[in-house]
Amino acid sequence: MSEEDIELEARLEEQATFEPSDSFVEQANVSDPSVYEEFDENWPNCWQAAAELLDWDEEYDQVLDDSNPPFYEWFTDGTLNASANCLDRHLDERGDEPAIEWVGEPVDEDDRTFTYAELHREVNECAAALRDLGVGEDDVVTMYMPMIPELPIAMLACARIGAPHSVVFAGFSADALATRMNAADSEYLITCDGYYRRGDPLDHLSKANEGLAGVDHEVSDVVVAERLRDGDGFGHGLAANQHTYDGLVADHEGATVDPVKRDAEDMLFLMYTSGTTGQPKGVKHTTGGYLAWTAWTSQAVLDIKPEDTYFCSADIGWITGHSYIVYGPLALGTTTMMYEGTPDHPDRDRLWEIVEEYEATQLYTAPTAIRAFMKWGGEYPDRHDLSSLRLLGTVGEPINPRAWKWYYKHIGNEECPIVDTWWQTETGGMMVTTLPGVKTMKPGSAGPPLPGVDAQVVDTNGDPVEAGRAGYLTVRKPWPGMLRTLYKNDERYIEEYWAEYSDTDSSDPEDWVYFPEDGAKLDEDGYITVLGRVDDVLNVSGHRLGTMEIESAIVGVEGVAEAAVVGGDHEVKGEAVYAYVITEDGYEEDDALRDRIVQAVEDAIGPIARPERVVFSPDLPKTRSGKIMRRLLEDIANEAELGDTSTLRNPDIVEDIQGKISGD
Ligand code: WTA
Repeated sequence: MSEEDIELEARLEEQATFEPSDSFVEQANVSDPSVYEEFDENWPNCWQAAAELLDWDEEYDQVLDDSNPPFYEWFTDGTLNASANCLDRHLDERGDEPAIEWVGEPVDEDDRTFTYAELHREVNECAAALRDLGVGEDDVVTMYMPMIPELPIAMLACARIGAPHSVVFAGFSADALATRMNAADSEYLITCDGYYRRGDPLDHLSKANEGLAGVDHEVSDVVVAERLRDGDGFGHGLAANQHTYDGLVADHEGATVDPVKRDAEDMLFLMYTSGTTGQPKGVKHTTGGYLAWTAWTSQAVLDIKPEDTYFCSADIGWITGHSYIVYGPLALGTTTMMYEGTPDHPDRDRLWEIVEEYEATQLYTAPTAIRAFMKWGGEYPDRHDLSSLRLLGTVGEPINPRAWKWYYKHIGNEECPIVDTWWQTETGGMMVTTLPGVKTMKPGSAGPPLPGVDAQVVDTNGDPVEAGRAGYLTVRKPWPGMLRTLYKNDERYIEEYWAEYSDTDSSDPEDWVYFPEDGAKLDEDGYITVLGRVDDVLNVSGHRLGTMEIESAIVGVEGVAEAAVVGGDHEVKGEAVYAYVITEDGYEEDDALRDRIVQAVEDAIGPIARPERVVFSPDLPKTRSGKIMRRLLEDIANEAELGDTSTLRNPDIVEDIQGKISGD
């Protein structure tokens, strides 16, 4: 490091807050601080501002119907179509402009640009093909696809014909696919033959087929997109109900499908996410509120303008990709990028190469990625001209100030504001973050709630904490992008998100409080520093994983008597999976068993849930009532100071486990 660099580093380290530059503020979509007050005063009608970003077939009657909390309805009786809002209405002005810039794995030169006119055509053909297969309004279509163009095309095609999609992350296992198709009674699957990872072809259809074998009802049709080139295939044959994507679409060349008028409250999609029990939760999002929310936040927070080239590096298989690669950006008519590969192939400057080549104007990524970039070193971004960037964003987990400042300096050249956006699958879009053209940034703290969002940090009784104190994050008023329920399970919806802080017998919306299950601190300046999950959900590289799901996979392994899974601190991943395992009598605590445990977790969930450590132990620390003390196991994983262990039924075991963690 040069002397200059060291000085700069020292200055940044001391600096606690940052202001957006004048030049950013001048051009920002939102720069008037009065927006906060104005939204408060006009709530809930302030959300007309979000609805106005959309084209409605029939105007809505009421902004919010809160007569039956927590089953809120937004923009009631309005009708619209999400695909028409993302495509058709942009054709006149933006028809020849790129809608999606798809950057493939660098196996060859197969990047593809889809103009709005081209994307519109492809979506129509796909919609016509799906309809011909028999997909009707409200039939759930499952998609199990990596980052290939057919994924957003199929999503928008489903939206066009009013069929909700349920996208399953391609890295999830066959079992996870089957569980989700079963839970949604989904009779259609769109998948692909395979894809490329770090240049190597990967078999995907075999995994999809294995999943299909676990589906408990008849699957009418399977559509298979072909991503692999000749010679890279895995010799798949297609079953009688399986069709190639290209074949189907070729049969519908030039076809057009009128966008179906959907009620604002009609389901747009389902997304399964991990919860405290083994069964994933089917989060239901609707057409009007969700689209309005993603469009409005894309405009206000990501500062997206039609002429931008906006780059979000998430996977569309997660909510971030749904909201901020597909729906929000396309609703605003901008150019959204889609990258198939990983950030380290062919080299660790891959993202920066893409930013430079496409002159990306925004980059939205996750703290886990930033920590990896930081570890790799500044020389990779320094090789490239990143001056096209105007704004940076993060999502998925808390970002530590050091990583924030590295991002600010090395990627943003100290000129781009950073938005640290707190939200969840369930919230549909951003909830707590600074408005980049208005607010001071404070590394490590997400910021104040967005205008019109009533987020509060409360104590265990539900009373707001004083400034400077930690507690639980809650949201007191509903918002348009919120989930409407858990699919076919209203009871669990109430139990999971509302029961904790609401009077569930009341029909007064004031008595209903949404609980996202995150801990948070209320800073002196009213900013919210999110601390992380307070339920049994881990956040590994920004991905939500239920400890129960992992534990149940492990106890299914022959020779395992009991297991407890907790999160241990990890430099890059944020949290890593630590599995403590008690073996059955007569089984060896050996590497073979360890391997079977790891394999079982990969089979049940996917490689993202792979345990970092499997620790065999003769017993687990338990309370006198027999409850496993997970907090203690977490402290042990982190080699942290342990509190009083004398109330345990088996205090001796603690030292034993500690020895194993530090010993091997
Ligand atoms: C965590 C991802 C701190 C949080 C969009 C939340 C964050 C969970 C942030 C949701 C942030 C997300 N700061 N924590 N900026 N953003 N989280 O459903 O624990 O995959 O509850 O949605 O990620 O994860 P999900």
